Amino acid sequence: MTWLPLKLKTYQLKTVYSLLNRYSTAAKALTTVNVNGKAFEADDYTNITPKIASYLNSNLHLKKNHPLSLVRQRIVNYFYTFRYAGNPEFSVYDNLNPVVSTKQNFDDLLISLDHVSRAKSDCYYINRGMLLRAHMTAHQSELLRSGLNNFLMIGDVYRRDEIDSTHFPVFHQVDAVRSLHKERLFPNQPDLEIFEPQYDTKNPFTFKNTISDPMKQSCHTLEATKVMETQLKNHLIGMVKTLFGKDIKHRWVDAYFPFTHPSWELEIFYENKWMEVLGCGIVRNEILVNAGPSNTIAYAFGLGLERLAMALYKIPDIRLMWSNDSGFLTQFENKDLDAKITYKPVSSYPQCTNDLSFWLPENLSIDTFMNNDFYELVRGIGGDIVEQVKLKDKFVHPKTKKHSLCYSIVYRHLERTLTQEEVNRIHKDIEVAVATAFNVVIR
Ligand code: PHE
Repeated sequence: MTWLPLKLKTYQLKTVYSLLNRYSTAAKALTTVNVNGKAFEADDYTNITPKIASYLNSNLHLKKNHPLSLVRQRIVNYFYTFRYAGNPEFSVYDNLNPVVSTKQNFDDLLISLDHVSRAKSDCYYINRGMLLRAHMTAHQSELLRSGLNNFLMIGDVYRRDEIDSTHFPVFHQVDAVRSLHKERLFPNQPDLEIFEPQYDTKNPFTFKNTISDPMKQSCHTLEATKVMETQLKNHLIGMVKTLFGKDIKHRWVDAYFPFTHPSWELEIFYENKWMEVLGCGIVRNEILVNAGPSNTIAYAFGLGLERLAMALYKIPDIRLMWSNDSGFLTQFENKDLDAKITYKPVSSYPQCTNDLSFWLPENLSIDTFMNNDFYELVRGIGGDIVEQVKLKDKFVHPKTKKHSLCYSIVYRHLERTLTQEEVNRIHKDIEVAVATAFNVVIR
């Protein structure tokens, strides 16, 4: 058993303090957090860390030669091929502020107050009312409200998650909405309707829309839903064929999202496995009505750029997206957008794995210990060289009834070999910080 000296560097102290703050039951002093140059009042929901805030404004999706930017341009170009009276149908928003309200991220999208996606353990809250957007769909209602019908929303999104080669707390999404009124949906069939006769577009709030029918929303006709569904699916299959080639195999899987009905996920057959690439569906009519248009039907979809870029260019680790190493970016330089690029690892450096075991204090058990807070702290101190944190072992002491956890922390630098001494130093810093923040006893 090791007892560790409580000597921390300033940046580590910051992380520890923010965690201590979160855990202390003592009355909270009114503090402010600065995010994106604006001061916000902190409260018991505040869990955004300086580390996470430092990723804001990176705009990887707009960065020259960046693989995420290449995929973004290919998707945008594809959607620019849809024209109406000679003009592009879809307008593109790729510079929207990632600081959003809970109304934008959840309420406007009919996400219930008790929905898991709102959990503090899954989002980066600035305070009870504001957070870093967890999906680009957060902007859907405001853009509809501004009068837009067809648009793409592209940007960085933030979710608390575990750490491994395919998960990073910041990633990028392309979201879209396409809405059509009757004349455009059924150009040559004036007798067909978008809505069932009971629904009155002039008094939309008098109709109670339901989703009990798996085929459609109760306000919509089956014809309108099917025409919109066909457009949605054709547009998206066209997109994956543009990206992956015309022979790519795909399948549709029924899905559920609070903001669409019916909903689907699109999977493609990639490297001998089915890979989910996007979620989509017919926009819930309540959302359209609240934002303005009560006489249109719309589709929406959302996809992750990292997953597509990693598959298209065979990029093995999501953290490479954040690399400033010239060996990475130059591989995507001055390339024809549609050129086939295969990333070649510069070299792969060895991993170093150290274990971290501790006793939880009496008031915490294996089930109440907050894994994501722990991951956050480990990342806050170890930074990007922490490749993976995995729970290795847990047990309850038969006599004292105290709970013990053992985690393996895998360290790897993407651009050089780490020495064991260097890793040991960082690992010790993490032990000290974990002991301080969670009141655990290192074994
Ligand atoms: N917002 C969803 C997500 O992040 C994706 C989605 C967008 C699904 C629009 C349906 C419609 O997973």
